[in-house]
Amino acid sequence: MKFTLFLVKILFIPHKIFKKFYFKFINIFHFYIPNLLCIVEGRVLYFKNLKCFQKVYVTGLGKVKLGKNVTLGFRLGGFYKYGYIEIQPRYKNSFIEIGDNVSTNNNIMFCAASKILIGKNTLIGQYVIFLDHDAHGLAPNERRNSIGNVGEIEIGENVWIGNNVQILTGTKIGNNSIVAAGAVVKGIFPENVILGGVPAKIIKNL
Ligand SMILES: CC(C)(COP(=O)(O)OP(=O)(O)OC[C@H]1O[C@@H](n2cnc3c(N)ncnc32)[C@H](O)[C@@H]1OP(=O)(O)O)[C@@H](O)C(=O)NCCC(=O)NCCS
Repeated sequence: MKFTLFLVKILFIPHKIFKKFYFKFINIFHFYIPNLLCIVEGRVLYFKNLKCFQKVYVTGLGKVKLGKNVTLGFRLGGFYKYGYIEIQPRYKNSFIEIGDNVSTNNNIMFCAASKILIGKNTLIGQYVIFLDHDAHGLAPNERRNSIGNVGEIEIGENVWIGNNVQILTGTKIGNNSIVAAGAVVKGIFPENVILGGVPAKIIKNL
């Protein structure tokens, strides 16, 4: 019995070491390899202690800045094995910044023609889409040759965005606010409120 326990302990030593470096190890497959070209081209401006539990693809032509301790994807969040997170600064001058300590769930899309800024300590649920432009013009003859309205998205600090939310062009959300699950958000909203519904309105003060 004692010998078996000893053996188990010995066998667990590499496991413990591996666990310590696990994040760095999975980042190779989830971040470095899929984005090698953008990293080499200098389009990923900064990241430190990044943890990517889902594959992350930086697409588009613009630049991305990730803060310190950003976590992308969540192993217990559901749908984590089959999806990915896409960060797409679409054009050369497009920019996406994800602040320090931001954590996201799985299957998120950030798509910026202009700019998307996510404040530090913000939490983002699964299947959330940030789209800072409409992607098509409103007029019938502009549907295919215009990207329509474009406006920066700015999410404050310590915001909590629930599952299945869409954040649309020109939206600003103040610090500490919550976006309830399923909301479609367009507009400028203050700090310390809960937004919900389609279109999102303030449903509660915090
Ligand atoms: C918003 C939320 C946090 C609840 O907050 P709460 O303070 O407990 O809110 P309440 O349940 O008291 O509801 C307040 C009002 O908002 C409404 N409401 C709650 N959630 C809503 C939603 N998702 N969409 C629209 N309205 C909503 C309620 O119906 C209620 O309306 P009423 O005052 O007319 O009755 C919760 O509903 C929610 O959306 N959680 C997100 C969960 C999630 O996606 N987690 C992500 C995991 S990463």
